[in-house]
Amino acid sequence: MLAEQAAEAIATRTGVIHHHVAVILGSGWQTAATEIGAPTASIPMSELPGFEPPTAQGHQGVVHSVTVGESQVLLMMGRQHLYEGYEPQRVVHAVHAAAAAGATTVILTNAAGGIRPGLRVGETVLISDHLNLTGRTPLTGASFVNMVDAWDPALRTLAREVDPALTEGVYAGLNGPQYETPAEIRMLGGMGADLVGMSTVLEAIAARSLELRLLGISLVTNLAAGVTGEALSHEEVLAEGRAAAPRLGKLLRGVLERL
Ligand code: HPA
Repeated sequence: MLAEQAAEAIATRTGVIHHHVAVILGSGWQTAATEIGAPTASIPMSELPGFEPPTAQGHQGVVHSVTVGESQVLLMMGRQHLYEGYEPQRVVHAVHAAAAAGATTVILTNAAGGIRPGLRVGETVLISDHLNLTGRTPLTGASFVNMVDAWDPALRTLAREVDPALTEGVYAGLNGPQYETPAEIRMLGGMGADLVGMSTVLEAIAARSLELRLLGISLVTNLAAGVTGEALSHEEVLAEGRAAAPRLGKLLRGVLERL
């Protein structure tokens, strides 16, 4: 299988047989990687079976191997999205590869629009639950996967030990790539969404089907459409990430050290 082939390549190229944790760094999170630690090995995604070089702007397309405390960590610098035209299987390949490489914990990060009143740009929010509004699933066949407490409560508690100011929120995952209309944001707010983005939910479903422990952190890079009346841009998303990088890196490092 492709995931096993990727895991084998990761083991060969990094010299690390078992990676314990994988962190997927999304838009806005790439520059945080340098704060986590110096990689002992780096592999372009284009050289790993099943991975694709990301087309999303600001995604570096590299997998780093980093030692943090007792843990061997895979930092996946970028991801595949449905809006790039990938099937769900491809979108979740990194999660399957991480599990095949030995990971028992996956940390998913993303950039998100803030829907809930009071959320501020630059704020990091723990994902407590999600709405999969993509209309897609990475699961094939009749595999009934429990999604209660999908976002590990104990890991959220651990993250709050690093930063007690962290709040929690429900992440709505949409296809994109267009940003939402103000009417869609009003609808999402009514449905219980605090955050909105174009990734993460399929990876979360795949992670739970593999019984991986799951932690998710959103960086609010903008207030959602209609909240301020301003237009949205990907450049603003990336700029906010660069500005927040030292803080994001410290948070991730703090979490990884406590695992
Ligand atoms: N909507 C969808 N995806 C996003 C947003 C948004 O406002 N901000 C960052 N990713």
